Amino acid sequence: DAKADSVLWNSMVFPLLNITIKGVVWYQGESNTIPGIKQDSYSCTFPAMIADWRDKFYNGTGGATDKLFPFGFVQISTNNDTAWIVDGYPAIRWHQTADYGYVPNEKMPNVFMAVAMDLPDPTSPYGPVHPRYKQDVGYRLALAAKAIAYNDTNVKYTGPFPSNITVVLSGDAINVIYDSKHIRVNQDSGFE
Ligand SMILES: *[C@@H]1O[C@H](CO)[C@@H](O)[C@H](O)[C@H]1NC(C)=O
Ligand SMILES: *[C@@H]1O[C@H](CO)[C@@H](O)[C@H](O)[C@H]1NC(C)=O
Ligand SMILES: *[C@@H]1O[C@H](CO)[C@@H](O)[C@H](O)[C@H]1NC(C)=O
Ligand SMILES: *[C@@H]1O[C@H](CO)[C@@H](O)[C@H](O)[C@H]1NC(C)=O
Ligand SMILES: *[C@@H]1O[C@H](CO)[C@@H](O)[C@H](O)[C@H]1NC(C)=O
Repeated sequence: DAKADSVLWNSMVFPLLNITIKGVVWYQGESNTIPGIKQDSYSCTFPAMIADWRDKFYNGTGGATDKLFPFGFVQISTNNDTAWIVDGYPAIRWHQTADYGYVPNEKMPNVFMAVAMDLPDPTSPYGPVHPRYKQDVGYRLALAAKAIAYNDTNVKYTGPFPSNITVVLSGDAINVIYDSKHIRVNQDSGFE
């Protein structure tokens, strides 16, 4: 039962603590869109889990694993299946970044993200909760890992990042200016 606290940790992570690792990639969060499954605390529990894994792998390998090893995650996409709490998806996307909206940030150092909200799959045969765009998110994780885990300063690995938002004087619109530094350009649509 994946929902029983500690089961996955004890059976699938704890046995690995003595193995030196370069980093972690993580794809989870859909269940937490349900308020009863700790939706509100996710912005706290997710960074706390990352810090805990870093401590424990560092310790378990006698310091051979970097105590701030890179940690990448896949943003949860979207879900129009009304059996789910559809409103919980934006909340968890926000909480996946510790409520900053981007990573890395002060609470999530050396953490990177593959954006996925532009990759919904409402007709997935496995249900919209399981979008089939795994290669896309894998590719985005790899690009971000090159930048964050391997210090490649030339790689473009994020979507457009708002650098200045101003409310238009009449009050019925906002202007958003995007930083173009890291934008990945897609030949078909202009940007991903
Ligand atoms: C394995 O890691 C644990 C901490 O998680 C530590 O107590 C133990 O000494 C380690 N064993 C070896 C052989 O390094
Ligand atoms: C790991 O934890 C043990 C027990 O608390 C401690 O003795 C050891 O020094 C720690 N190792 C590292 C590398 O921090
Ligand atoms: C979700 O979107 C798909 C594709 O537009 C549609 O076929 C399906 O009926 C939608 N599901 C719900 C519950 O609205
Ligand atoms: C990346 O840069 C950081 C900060 O300068 C450094 O600590 C780390 O060792 C570098 N990592 C790699 C893989 O070069
Ligand atoms: C943001 O844009 C507004 C309107 O163009 C400008 O007045 C302001 O100085 C800009 N702020 C920053 C931090 O660039």
